[in-house]
Amino acid sequence: MSADRIVVLGTGGTIAGRGQPGTDLGYVAGQIGVEDLLSGVPELAGVPVACEQVAQIDSKDMRFDVWQSLAARCAHWLAQPDVTGIVVTHGTDTLEETAWFLQRVLAPAKPVVITCAMRPATALVPDGPQNLVDAFTAARHPGARGVLAVCAGVVHGAAEVRKVHTYRLDAFGSGDAGPIGYVEAGRVRQLREWPRSVADPALSDAVARAREWPWVEIVTNHAGAGARTVDALVAAGVHGLVVAGTGNGSLNAAMEQALLRAMGQGLRVVRSTRCLDGEVIVQAGDALPAHPLAPVKARVDLLLELLA
Ligand code: SIN
Repeated sequence: MSADRIVVLGTGGTIAGRGQPGTDLGYVAGQIGVEDLLSGVPELAGVPVACEQVAQIDSKDMRFDVWQSLAARCAHWLAQPDVTGIVVTHGTDTLEETAWFLQRVLAPAKPVVITCAMRPATALVPDGPQNLVDAFTAARHPGARGVLAVCAGVVHGAAEVRKVHTYRLDAFGSGDAGPIGYVEAGRVRQLREWPRSVADPALSDAVARAREWPWVEIVTNHAGAGARTVDALVAAGVHGLVVAGTGNGSLNAAMEQALLRAMGQGLRVVRSTRCLDGEVIVQAGDALPAHPLAPVKARVDLLLELLA
């Protein structure tokens, strides 16, 4: 058995998408198996690899059971002494949610590198093959750890990564934290620390055993927002709410009152911001708890909190 194995876990996405040859819209995501994706990249031919197809979906349809399977397969492979790191192929649309979920659940001491593509494999010039090569470079980089996202030569951390463009190949940003580094000519140029968090075996266990996941929704503050959406969700039995506030997490007065009523009934409510950069700065007298990450990641945290 080789001592430098990379495990590639396929979940679908545009990187595995197929469409009319030469076009980059109107394709179907999640069509090409992960082994076929790798066999189309001769640059990876000499690397000892194991492949598994965990799912084959468009990531807009990401589901909890896929997250569960992915976390389980990552945990299995990370525990193998000959495995250096994991590469996950994934759609771009919910990549940041999966990245944060895996970072929280696995807190891996080895690298788990999620990669993707903005163009399908059948495009005139697909970006997936280079992203795969760059993801392998990051996964094999000495000392790399934690859940990373690699796209268009940029290495992002799980906490900061966000999809920020609908079409551009360089579709991700890390906000004002900036990227962890770049992959340049087959090498990682590292700018800041790898993601680090403390493993919580009880949390991993709760995720593995969960049959029903909590119902957690995101509501957004906006001009004309009021109490109705929150009240309707509470009446329908939602288990937790993340509110994407305006600016520094500010809220329409009626919406805030509705959220406070919900909290009073025992519902967990977390306040984030719809701003792309910065985080909610807590002020004296704030009634609703603030969360430093983007609303979709605050939602992952709330899901895990309710699950545990
Ligand atoms: C997806 O998220 O699965 C489709 C879009 C993409 O990968 O760019």
